[in-house]
Amino acid sequence: MTETPAAQTPNHTVTLVDNASGRRYELPVLKGSTGPDVIDVRKLYQETGYFTFDPGYTSTGSCESAITYIDGDKGTLLYRGYPIEQLAEGSDFMEVCYLLLYGDLPTAEQKRKFEHDITYHTMLHEQMHKFIDGFRRDSHPMAVMVGLVGALSAFYHDSTDITNPRHRMIASYRMIAKMPTMAAWAYKYSLGQPFIYPRNDLRYSENFLYMMFATPCEPYKVNPVLAKAMDRILILHADHEQNASTSTVRLAGSSGANPFACIAAGIASLWGPAHGGANEAVLKMLEEIGDKSRVSEYVKRAKDKDDPFRLMGFGHRVYHNYDPRARIMRQSCHEVLEELGVRDEPLLDMAMELERIALEDEYFVSKKLYPNVDFYSGIIFRAMGIPVSLFTVLFAVARTVGWVAQWNEMIEDPTQKIGRPRQLYAGPTSRPFKQLAERV
Ligand code: SDX
Repeated sequence: MTETPAAQTPNHTVTLVDNASGRRYELPVLKGSTGPDVIDVRKLYQETGYFTFDPGYTSTGSCESAITYIDGDKGTLLYRGYPIEQLAEGSDFMEVCYLLLYGDLPTAEQKRKFEHDITYHTMLHEQMHKFIDGFRRDSHPMAVMVGLVGALSAFYHDSTDITNPRHRMIASYRMIAKMPTMAAWAYKYSLGQPFIYPRNDLRYSENFLYMMFATPCEPYKVNPVLAKAMDRILILHADHEQNASTSTVRLAGSSGANPFACIAAGIASLWGPAHGGANEAVLKMLEEIGDKSRVSEYVKRAKDKDDPFRLMGFGHRVYHNYDPRARIMRQSCHEVLEELGVRDEPLLDMAMELERIALEDEYFVSKKLYPNVDFYSGIIFRAMGIPVSLFTVLFAVARTVGWVAQWNEMIEDPTQKIGRPRQLYAGPTSRPFKQLAERV
């Protein structure tokens, strides 16, 4: 389904000198098609008896991948080599799904067939009602999504043989196709409204908004501007190298777990406020700030080491420049608010004031903290009538294609092994067991 990663050909070596023993080790350096070269440490422990140590993987490449590339210093993002700005402007989410899965943009016929195949997988098994009915109506929708996606493993025994490329394709299509239906179900369930079935005459993003906002009581027409905005937002969130949730999917998949269970694990990781949960956290932060006049007070708090408060939607492990997705999202904000006739959106005014102050402040400039993809997305979602609790669910709907593309690439990688990191042990060394009577 995806290109097999190119062979990793040693480019040159680096020498490691152990000053304790005086021994020297030559470690191969591998070169990708762009970006930093890597030191291949796969034989380091075997040759030196040392592990590397890199909690949070700030300097560690976990895999070879040909799907997405980020240049954090320039603030550029490529999906299979295509700049995100060009895809957001000229493509649509179904084309981007095809691109991420297969490595290139589809022809007209390939696109027609792909959209047909995805469309005809959007329905959920009727038994899935029984799973969602088990949740409280006020459950967080991300909890519902973790449960529903994990439950899919129990329904599709015909596509869980991960060694079978056809099974992997069917499971990938099912995941991409069914996420909007499950997300809409989670929303309708929280309202106590009936579920709306997908329609095969609607395109992906329009179908999603239809299932979210239609009712059986009257015809419902999706606003095409909002459908286009949703489609663009899905493109922006589709993939992003080896982020926490993608790395979770890869690690879960490396044991041979079925794809639905792996995606459920990815959803769980995305939920965190340091990751995909940040879009929800941004809205809560802006509502807590409450007024533009209080923005400086919160910027001051964000800089205070003794204050756990952080500016949500700011900063990034990789981007040390403006997240290109945030720039496109900010533009979309203005378009959606204009389309909806929202002249005065205090949250957007506050967000732009927050951005202006932060980008002029030495603390943020010195630490290269810029708005990230989550900073503006929530304002658009809220303007579209989507509840805050559903923001990260929308991120999961979009990121599913990235997760399945990366999962397929991992399984097709001939060098792939089960992920099993080591550690720096700091606990007690071996000591004799004490009987209960001896413990005082
Ligand atoms: C996403 O990985 C991806 O690609 C993720 C993502 C994707 O598409 O998958 O892009 C999606 O998750 C975007 C990020 C969303 N999260 C947030 O907006 C939450 C707020 N941001 C931070 O928590 C933080 O910036 C992270 C988690 C995003 C990145 O953290 P790092 O790389 O571990 O950086 P760090 O915590 O070590 O921070 C470096 C310094 C620290 O100060 P010092 O200890 O060096 O003095 O910058 C400070 C931090 O205190 N800092 C912030 C800050 N973010 C970092 N200070 C105030 N506000 C912030 N938001």
